[in-house]
Amino acid sequence: MRGRFITLEGGEGVGKSTNRALVVEQIEQAGYRVVATREPGGTPLAEQIRALLLDVREEPMAPQAELLLIFAARAQHLERVIRPALEQGHWVVCDRFTDATYAYQGGGRGMDIATIGLLESLVQDGLQPDLTLYLDVPVAVAQQRISGRPHDRFEREQTAFFERVRASYLQRAGADARFRVVDAEQSLALVQSRIRSILADYLKSCPDDRSA
Ligand code: TMP
Repeated sequence: MRGRFITLEGGEGVGKSTNRALVVEQIEQAGYRVVATREPGGTPLAEQIRALLLDVREEPMAPQAELLLIFAARAQHLERVIRPALEQGHWVVCDRFTDATYAYQGGGRGMDIATIGLLESLVQDGLQPDLTLYLDVPVAVAQQRISGRPHDRFEREQTAFFERVRASYLQRAGADARFRVVDAEQSLALVQSRIRSILADYLKSCPDDRSA
């Protein structure tokens, strides 16, 4: 039986990395093997594409170039890491996936959703996350949290861009049962207790197919 594919989504400064560690730990404690990864990135080549996407440079990146680079990195990541892991029965916990493309390139940049859908079917061939934790924080709060560090190419966007990103995420989360929305404005302890309980429920719903 194939492993489960779990994704974490949210804007900048919502605490995805911190909480990914918790998710991984809890799934491992339940006896499953876990591959923790991220997008864009997750393989040496895809990490190089990530650097192209995030680095601030003089030449502005065309939105279509950005979209294609994101899917190029995703194709590589799926082929080299995600699909092989799932096929071996391992669980994959991924920091961002295609919901981020709908939110950032669709919502943020205003790119055509149908085009994103086309690339999604080309690259994913029907593969979708089984469970997606969306960490929600109001934009002003998130911006405050990231204010002390250097900003990458996306983090330099204006507030209105991040409002559109958040609105797209919330709209997608409300339309698909694989999403669980976590109010990540609360204290870390409360956020983590909500994530623990979501995962405990999810693990209970999984047949006992441990590969470890
Ligand atoms: P991270 O720093 O949270 O790992 O994400 C890197 C940036 O890449 C983040 O600003 C969001 C952006 N991004 C997109 O614009 N589209 C995508 O599909 C993905 C996966 C990330």
